[in-house]
Amino acid sequence: MFTFTDKGGRDVALRPEGTAGAVRAYIENRLYADGTYKKLFYEGSMFRHERPQKGRYREFHQIGAEILGTANPLADAEIIKIADEILKALKVPATIEINSLGCKKCRPAYREALLEYLNSRREELCEDCQRRLERNPLRILDCKEEGCQLIASQAPKITDYLCEECKAHYESVKNYLTALGVEYRENPHLVRGLDYYSKTVFECISEELGKTVIAGGRYDYLVEELGGPPTPALGFAAGVERLALLVKELPPEKPLILVIPFGGEREKAHALKVAQTLREHGLRVELSYREGKLRKQFEFANKIGAHFTVVVGENELREGRYPLKNLLAREEKKLTLEEIIATLKNL
Ligand code: HAM
Repeated sequence: MFTFTDKGGRDVALRPEGTAGAVRAYIENRLYADGTYKKLFYEGSMFRHERPQKGRYREFHQIGAEILGTANPLADAEIIKIADEILKALKVPATIEINSLGCKKCRPAYREALLEYLNSRREELCEDCQRRLERNPLRILDCKEEGCQLIASQAPKITDYLCEECKAHYESVKNYLTALGVEYRENPHLVRGLDYYSKTVFECISEELGKTVIAGGRYDYLVEELGGPPTPALGFAAGVERLALLVKELPPEKPLILVIPFGGEREKAHALKVAQTLREHGLRVELSYREGKLRKQFEFANKIGAHFTVVVGENELREGRYPLKNLLAREEKKLTLEEIIATLKNL
Protein backbone atom coordinates (compact mmCIF):
# COMPACT_ATOMS: atom_id res chain seq x y z
CA MET A 1 0.00 0.00 0.00
CA PHE A 2 0.96 3.66 -0.40
CA THR A 3 0.97 4.95 3.17
CA PHE A 4 2.15 8.32 4.42
CA THR A 5 1.57 11.01 7.04
CA ASP A 6 -0.47 13.99 5.81
CA LYS A 7 0.01 17.65 6.77
CA GLY A 8 -2.31 17.24 9.72
CA GLY A 9 -0.10 14.46 11.09
CA ARG A 10 -2.63 11.76 10.22
CA ASP A 11 -1.52 8.38 8.99
CA VAL A 12 -3.30 7.71 5.73
CA ALA A 13 -3.21 5.04 3.04
CA LEU A 14 -4.37 5.21 -0.56
CA ARG A 15 -7.02 2.55 -1.04
CA PRO A 16 -5.67 -0.56 -2.76
CA GLU A 17 -9.12 -2.01 -3.51
CA GLY A 18 -12.83 -1.38 -2.98
CA THR A 19 -14.13 -4.29 -0.93
CA ALA A 20 -13.01 -3.10 2.50
CA GLY A 21 -14.49 0.36 1.81
CA ALA A 22 -17.78 -1.15 0.64
CA VAL A 23 -17.90 -3.25 3.80
CA ARG A 24 -17.24 -0.19 5.99
CA ALA A 25 -20.01 1.71 4.19
CA TYR A 26 -22.32 -1.26 4.81
CA ILE A 27 -21.51 -1.25 8.53
CA GLU A 28 -21.50 2.52 9.11
CA ASN A 29 -24.85 2.95 7.37
CA ARG A 30 -26.34 -0.08 9.10
CA LEU A 31 -27.41 -1.52 5.75
CA TYR A 32 -27.93 -4.86 7.51
CA ALA A 33 -30.67 -3.37 9.73
CA ASP A 34 -33.67 -4.39 7.59
CA GLY A 35 -32.54 -8.00 7.38
CA THR A 36 -32.34 -8.17 3.58
CA TYR A 37 -29.17 -8.69 1.57
CA LYS A 38 -27.65 -5.67 -0.17
CA LYS A 39 -26.00 -5.24 -3.55
CA LEU A 40 -23.40 -2.48 -3.90
CA PHE A 41 -21.19 -1.41 -6.76
CA TYR A 42 -18.31 1.04 -7.22
CA GLU A 43 -15.76 2.30 -9.67
CA GLY A 44 -12.69 4.39 -9.14
CA SER A 45 -8.94 4.54 -8.90
CA MET A 46 -6.99 2.21 -6.64
CA PHE A 47 -3.33 2.43 -5.66
CA ARG A 48 -0.81 -0.31 -5.06
CA HIS A 49 2.90 0.04 -4.40
CA GLU A 50 3.94 -2.49 -7.02
CA ARG A 51 6.70 -2.70 -9.59
CA PRO A 52 4.98 -1.32 -12.72
CA GLN A 53 4.88 -3.39 -15.92
CA LYS A 54 2.41 -3.94 -18.74
CA GLY A 55 -1.00 -4.32 -17.14
CA ARG A 56 0.33 -3.63 -13.65
CA TYR A 57 0.21 -0.02 -12.53
CA ARG A 58 0.55 1.91 -9.29
CA GLU A 59 -2.68 3.76 -10.02
CA PHE A 60 -5.36 1.80 -11.83
CA HIS A 61 -9.15 1.61 -11.96
CA GLN A 62 -11.56 -1.03 -10.82
CA ILE A 63 -15.24 -1.58 -11.27
CA GLY A 64 -16.58 -3.84 -8.59
CA ALA A 65 -19.77 -5.27 -7.14
CA GLU A 66 -20.48 -6.79 -3.75
CA ILE A 67 -23.44 -8.71 -2.31
CA LEU A 68 -23.64 -8.53 1.47
CA GLY A 69 -25.88 -10.62 3.68
CA THR A 70 -26.29 -13.95 1.91
CA ALA A 71 -24.59 -17.32 2.23
CA ASN A 72 -26.58 -18.75 -0.70
CA PRO A 73 -24.39 -20.33 -3.42
CA LEU A 74 -26.84 -18.93 -5.99
CA ALA A 75 -25.19 -15.56 -5.32
CA ASP A 76 -21.72 -17.03 -5.99
CA ALA A 77 -22.93 -18.28 -9.36
CA GLU A 78 -24.52 -14.94 -10.23
CA ILE A 79 -21.39 -12.97 -9.30
CA ILE A 80 -19.21 -15.21 -11.48
CA LYS A 81 -21.80 -14.93 -14.26
CA ILE A 82 -21.52 -11.11 -14.22
CA ALA A 83 -17.75 -11.43 -14.71
CA ASP A 84 -18.42 -13.87 -17.55
CA GLU A 85 -20.89 -11.41 -19.13
CA ILE A 86 -18.41 -8.51 -18.95
CA LEU A 87 -15.79 -10.64 -20.72
CA LYS A 88 -18.28 -11.75 -23.35
CA ALA A 89 -19.64 -8.25 -23.98
CA LEU A 90 -16.12 -6.91 -24.51
CA LYS A 91 -14.98 -10.05 -26.35
CA VAL A 92 -12.04 -10.46 -23.97
CA PRO A 93 -10.85 -14.08 -24.03
CA ALA A 94 -10.16 -15.34 -20.50
CA THR A 95 -10.34 -18.57 -18.56
CA ILE A 96 -12.42 -18.64 -15.40
CA GLU A 97 -10.71 -20.56 -12.63
CA ILE A 98 -12.52 -21.40 -9.40
CA ASN A 99 -11.64 -22.91 -6.06
CA SER A 100 -12.95 -23.13 -2.51
CA LEU A 101 -10.80 -21.93 0.38
CA GLY A 102 -12.99 -23.53 3.04
CA CYS A 103 -14.14 -21.92 6.26
CA LYS A 104 -13.00 -21.45 9.85
CA LYS A 105 -13.92 -25.06 10.53
CA CYS A 106 -11.99 -26.81 7.79
CA ARG A 107 -9.14 -24.47 6.91
CA PRO A 108 -6.99 -25.05 10.06
CA ALA A 109 -6.58 -28.76 9.26
CA TYR A 110 -5.56 -27.90 5.72
CA ARG A 111 -3.18 -25.20 6.90
CA GLU A 112 -1.50 -27.74 9.12
CA ALA A 113 -1.13 -30.31 6.33
CA LEU A 114 0.18 -27.62 4.00
CA LEU A 115 2.67 -26.34 6.59
CA GLU A 116 3.97 -29.82 7.21
CA TYR A 117 4.50 -30.33 3.48
CA LEU A 118 6.04 -26.88 2.89
CA ASN A 119 8.35 -27.19 5.88
CA SER A 120 9.66 -30.42 4.43
CA ARG A 121 10.71 -28.42 1.36
CA ARG A 122 11.59 -25.18 3.11
CA GLU A 123 15.10 -24.94 1.66
CA GLU A 124 13.78 -25.00 -1.91
CA LEU A 125 11.39 -22.05 -1.41
CA CYS A 126 12.27 -18.50 -2.49
CA GLU A 127 13.13 -15.96 0.23
CA ASP A 128 9.68 -14.34 0.13
CA CYS A 129 8.00 -17.70 0.55
CA GLN A 130 10.25 -18.68 3.44
CA ARG A 131 8.90 -15.57 5.16
CA ARG A 132 5.33 -16.41 4.08
CA LEU A 133 5.73 -19.77 5.76
CA GLU A 134 5.34 -18.04 9.12
CA ARG A 135 2.71 -15.47 8.27
CA ASN A 136 0.56 -16.87 5.48
CA PRO A 137 1.55 -20.25 4.02
CA LEU A 138 -1.49 -20.31 1.71
CA ARG A 139 -0.01 -17.45 -0.31
CA ILE A 140 2.97 -19.63 -1.23
CA LEU A 141 0.62 -21.48 -3.57
CA ASP A 142 0.27 -18.17 -5.45
CA CYS A 143 4.03 -17.45 -5.80
CA LYS A 144 5.15 -16.72 -9.35
CA GLU A 145 8.70 -18.14 -8.87
CA GLU A 146 9.21 -21.25 -10.96
CA GLY A 147 10.71 -23.28 -8.12
CA CYS A 148 7.85 -22.40 -5.78
CA GLN A 149 5.27 -23.19 -8.45
CA LEU A 150 6.67 -26.69 -8.79
CA ILE A 151 6.53 -27.19 -5.04
CA ALA A 152 2.99 -25.77 -4.98
CA SER A 153 1.83 -28.14 -7.70
CA GLN A 154 2.68 -31.11 -5.48
CA ALA A 155 1.15 -29.60 -2.31
CA PRO A 156 -1.94 -31.04 -0.60
CA LYS A 157 -5.17 -29.74 -2.15
CA ILE A 158 -7.57 -27.71 -0.03
CA THR A 159 -10.54 -29.34 -1.76
CA ASP A 160 -9.52 -32.63 -0.13
CA TYR A 161 -9.94 -31.00 3.29
CA LEU A 162 -13.28 -29.19 2.93
CA CYS A 163 -15.94 -29.79 5.62
CA GLU A 164 -19.34 -31.11 4.56
CA GLU A 165 -20.87 -27.64 4.43
CA CYS A 166 -18.08 -26.16 2.30
CA LYS A 167 -18.08 -29.19 0.04
CA ALA A 168 -21.86 -28.92 -0.53
CA HIS A 169 -21.55 -25.17 -1.15
CA TYR A 170 -18.79 -25.68 -3.70
CA GLU A 171 -20.75 -28.44 -5.45
CA SER A 172 -23.81 -26.16 -5.71
CA VAL A 173 -21.76 -23.30 -7.16
CA LYS A 174 -20.34 -25.63 -9.81
CA ASN A 175 -23.78 -27.04 -10.64
CA TYR A 176 -25.28 -23.56 -11.00
CA LEU A 177 -22.42 -22.40 -13.22
CA THR A 178 -22.96 -25.42 -15.43
CA ALA A 179 -26.70 -24.66 -15.52
CA LEU A 180 -25.86 -21.11 -16.64
CA GLY A 181 -23.51 -22.40 -19.31
CA VAL A 182 -20.48 -20.70 -17.74
CA GLU A 183 -17.26 -22.46 -18.67
CA TYR A 184 -14.82 -22.76 -15.79
CA ARG A 185 -11.78 -24.72 -14.69
CA GLU A 186 -11.19 -25.92 -11.17
CA ASN A 187 -7.81 -24.92 -9.81
CA PRO A 188 -7.26 -26.37 -6.33
CA HIS A 189 -4.21 -24.12 -5.91
CA LEU A 190 -6.00 -20.86 -6.58
CA VAL A 191 -5.68 -18.82 -3.37
CA ARG A 192 -5.93 -15.08 -4.34
CA GLY A 193 -3.68 -12.28 -3.18
CA LEU A 194 -5.95 -10.86 -0.48
CA ASP A 195 -6.39 -12.45 2.91
CA TYR A 196 -10.11 -12.07 3.58
CA TYR A 197 -11.46 -14.86 1.39
CA SER A 198 -13.39 -17.95 2.47
CA LYS A 199 -15.20 -20.62 0.45
CA THR A 200 -15.56 -19.67 -3.24
CA VAL A 201 -12.77 -17.76 -5.00
CA PHE A 202 -12.42 -17.17 -8.72
CA GLU A 203 -10.16 -15.48 -11.25
CA CYS A 204 -10.64 -14.73 -14.94
CA ILE A 205 -7.19 -15.12 -16.42
CA SER A 206 -6.06 -13.74 -19.77
CA GLU A 207 -3.49 -15.90 -21.44
CA GLU A 208 -2.56 -13.06 -23.81
CA LEU A 209 -1.71 -10.73 -20.91
CA GLY A 210 -0.57 -13.45 -18.54
CA LYS A 211 -2.64 -11.77 -15.85
CA THR A 212 -5.98 -11.87 -14.08
CA VAL A 213 -8.48 -9.34 -15.40
CA ILE A 214 -11.47 -9.96 -13.12
CA ALA A 215 -11.38 -11.65 -9.74
CA GLY A 216 -13.33 -12.11 -6.57
CA GLY A 217 -14.93 -14.48 -4.15
CA ARG A 218 -16.56 -14.89 -0.76
CA TYR A 219 -15.42 -13.14 2.38
CA ASP A 220 -17.85 -14.45 4.98
CA TYR A 221 -15.90 -13.09 7.99
CA LEU A 222 -14.84 -9.61 6.83
CA VAL A 223 -17.96 -7.70 7.94
CA GLU A 224 -17.60 -9.13 11.42
CA GLU A 225 -13.85 -8.48 11.48
CA LEU A 226 -14.48 -4.81 10.65
CA GLY A 227 -16.99 -4.47 13.50
CA GLY A 228 -20.33 -5.40 11.94
CA PRO A 229 -22.64 -8.30 12.68
CA PRO A 230 -21.74 -11.74 11.25
CA THR A 231 -22.60 -11.28 7.56
CA PRO A 232 -21.66 -13.64 4.74
CA ALA A 233 -20.71 -11.69 1.62
CA LEU A 234 -19.03 -11.92 -1.76
CA GLY A 235 -18.09 -9.88 -4.80
CA PHE A 236 -15.71 -9.22 -7.62
CA ALA A 237 -13.64 -6.45 -9.16
CA ALA A 238 -12.55 -5.93 -12.76
CA GLY A 239 -9.37 -4.09 -13.73
CA VAL A 240 -10.34 -1.43 -16.25
CA GLU A 241 -6.86 -0.96 -17.77
CA ARG A 242 -6.40 -4.70 -18.21
CA LEU A 243 -9.79 -4.98 -19.90
CA ALA A 244 -8.88 -2.01 -22.12
CA LEU A 245 -5.62 -3.70 -23.16
CA LEU A 246 -7.53 -6.80 -24.21
CA VAL A 247 -10.82 -5.53 -25.54
CA LYS A 248 -11.38 -6.72 -29.09
CA GLU A 249 -14.65 -5.02 -29.84
CA LEU A 250 -16.73 -2.48 -28.02
CA PRO A 251 -20.45 -3.15 -27.67
CA PRO A 252 -22.29 -1.32 -30.46
CA GLU A 253 -22.96 2.28 -29.58
CA LYS A 254 -26.51 3.54 -29.56
CA PRO A 255 -27.17 5.72 -32.59
CA LEU A 256 -26.79 9.43 -31.89
CA ILE A 257 -29.77 11.64 -32.75
CA LEU A 258 -29.32 15.37 -33.25
CA VAL A 259 -32.45 17.43 -32.65
CA ILE A 260 -32.23 20.66 -34.65
CA PRO A 261 -34.34 23.67 -33.65
CA PHE A 262 -35.20 25.72 -36.72
CA GLY A 263 -36.92 29.06 -36.22
CA GLY A 264 -37.60 31.32 -33.26
CA GLU A 265 -38.21 30.98 -29.55
CA ARG A 266 -41.33 28.81 -29.95
CA GLU A 267 -39.50 26.26 -32.12
CA LYS A 268 -36.50 26.23 -29.79
CA ALA A 269 -38.69 25.57 -26.76
CA HIS A 270 -40.46 22.81 -28.64
CA ALA A 271 -37.17 21.23 -29.82
CA LEU A 272 -36.03 21.24 -26.21
CA LYS A 273 -39.08 19.19 -25.26
CA VAL A 274 -38.70 16.82 -28.23
CA ALA A 275 -35.06 16.12 -27.24
CA GLN A 276 -36.11 15.50 -23.66
CA THR A 277 -38.95 13.16 -24.67
CA LEU A 278 -36.59 11.11 -26.87
CA ARG A 279 -34.10 10.87 -23.98
CA GLU A 280 -36.83 9.70 -21.65
CA HIS A 281 -37.32 6.78 -24.05
CA GLY A 282 -33.71 5.76 -23.59
CA LEU A 283 -32.44 7.26 -26.83
CA ARG A 284 -29.06 8.97 -27.15
CA VAL A 285 -29.83 12.56 -28.04
CA GLU A 286 -27.97 15.78 -28.60
CA LEU A 287 -29.87 19.07 -28.93
CA SER A 288 -28.13 21.46 -31.31
CA TYR A 289 -27.10 24.76 -29.70
CA ARG A 290 -25.82 25.93 -33.07
CA GLU A 291 -27.59 28.82 -34.77
CA GLY A 292 -27.86 29.37 -38.49
CA LYS A 293 -28.83 27.76 -41.75
CA LEU A 294 -29.97 24.15 -42.00
CA ARG A 295 -26.98 23.33 -44.17
CA LYS A 296 -24.68 24.38 -41.29
CA GLN A 297 -26.76 22.28 -38.91
CA PHE A 298 -26.29 19.17 -41.05
CA GLU A 299 -22.55 19.84 -41.25
CA PHE A 300 -22.54 19.99 -37.47
CA ALA A 301 -24.49 16.70 -37.32
CA ASN A 302 -21.79 15.02 -39.43
CA LYS A 303 -19.02 16.51 -37.34
CA ILE A 304 -20.33 15.11 -34.09
CA GLY A 305 -20.99 11.72 -35.69
CA ALA A 306 -24.79 11.86 -35.48
CA HIS A 307 -26.63 9.04 -37.21
CA PHE A 308 -30.04 10.74 -37.34
CA THR A 309 -31.40 14.26 -37.30
CA VAL A 310 -34.84 15.49 -36.32
CA VAL A 311 -35.65 19.04 -37.44
CA VAL A 312 -38.14 21.00 -35.35
CA GLY A 313 -39.36 24.07 -37.27
CA GLU A 314 -42.54 26.03 -37.78
CA ASN A 315 -44.15 23.55 -40.23
CA GLU A 316 -43.27 20.61 -37.99
CA LEU A 317 -44.88 22.31 -35.02
CA ARG A 318 -48.08 22.91 -36.98
CA GLU A 319 -48.28 19.40 -38.48
CA GLY A 320 -47.02 17.43 -35.47
CA ARG A 321 -44.74 15.52 -37.88
CA TYR A 322 -40.98 15.81 -38.06
CA PRO A 323 -38.45 14.86 -40.73
CA LEU A 324 -36.35 12.00 -39.36
CA LYS A 325 -33.23 11.83 -41.51
CA ASN A 326 -30.94 8.83 -41.55
CA LEU A 327 -27.58 10.42 -42.35
CA LEU A 328 -25.91 7.16 -43.38
CA ALA A 329 -28.68 5.86 -45.64
CA ARG A 330 -29.55 9.42 -46.73
CA GLU A 331 -33.24 8.72 -46.26
CA GLU A 332 -35.82 11.02 -44.80
CA LYS A 333 -39.31 10.29 -43.48
CA LYS A 334 -41.90 12.60 -41.97
CA LEU A 335 -43.13 10.97 -38.79
CA THR A 336 -44.99 11.77 -35.60
CA LEU A 337 -42.96 11.78 -32.40
CA GLU A 338 -44.42 8.38 -31.42
CA GLU A 339 -43.41 6.94 -34.79
CA ILE A 340 -39.90 8.38 -34.44
CA ILE A 341 -39.54 6.78 -31.02
CA ALA A 342 -40.80 3.41 -32.30
CA THR A 343 -38.50 3.53 -35.35
CA LEU A 344 -35.39 4.41 -33.36
CA LYS A 345 -36.07 1.95 -30.56
CA ASN A 346 -36.52 -0.88 -33.08
CA LEU A 347 -33.14 -0.35 -34.74
P1 HAM B 1 -7.74 -8.17 -6.99
O1 HAM B 1 -7.56 -9.48 -7.65
O2 HAM B 1 -6.65 -7.69 -6.10
O3 HAM B 1 -9.09 -8.24 -6.19
O4 HAM B 1 -7.97 -7.04 -8.08
C1 HAM B 1 -9.02 -7.16 -9.01
C2 HAM B 1 -8.56 -6.75 -10.38
O5 HAM B 1 -7.98 -5.44 -10.35
C3 HAM B 1 -7.46 -7.63 -10.96
O6 HAM B 1 -7.99 -8.79 -11.53
C4 HAM B 1 -6.85 -6.71 -11.99
O7 HAM B 1 -7.61 -6.70 -13.18
C5 HAM B 1 -6.97 -5.36 -11.34
N1 HAM B 1 -5.68 -4.98 -10.75
C6 HAM B 1 -5.18 -5.32 -9.55
N2 HAM B 1 -3.98 -4.78 -9.35
C7 HAM B 1 -3.68 -4.07 -10.45
C8 HAM B 1 -2.58 -3.23 -10.87
N3 HAM B 1 -1.52 -3.00 -10.09
N4 HAM B 1 -2.63 -2.67 -12.10
C9 HAM B 1 -3.69 -2.86 -12.91
N5 HAM B 1 -4.76 -3.60 -12.57
C10 HAM B 1 -4.77 -4.20 -11.36
C11 HAM B 1 -9.63 -7.20 -5.48
O8 HAM B 1 -9.22 -6.08 -5.52
C12 HAM B 1 -10.85 -7.59 -4.67
N6 HAM B 1 -11.33 -6.40 -3.95
C13 HAM B 1 -11.94 -8.17 -5.57
C14 HAM B 1 -13.15 -8.55 -4.79
C15 HAM B 1 -14.31 -7.86 -4.68
N7 HAM B 1 -13.27 -9.64 -4.04
C16 HAM B 1 -14.47 -9.65 -3.47
N8 HAM B 1 -15.11 -8.56 -3.85
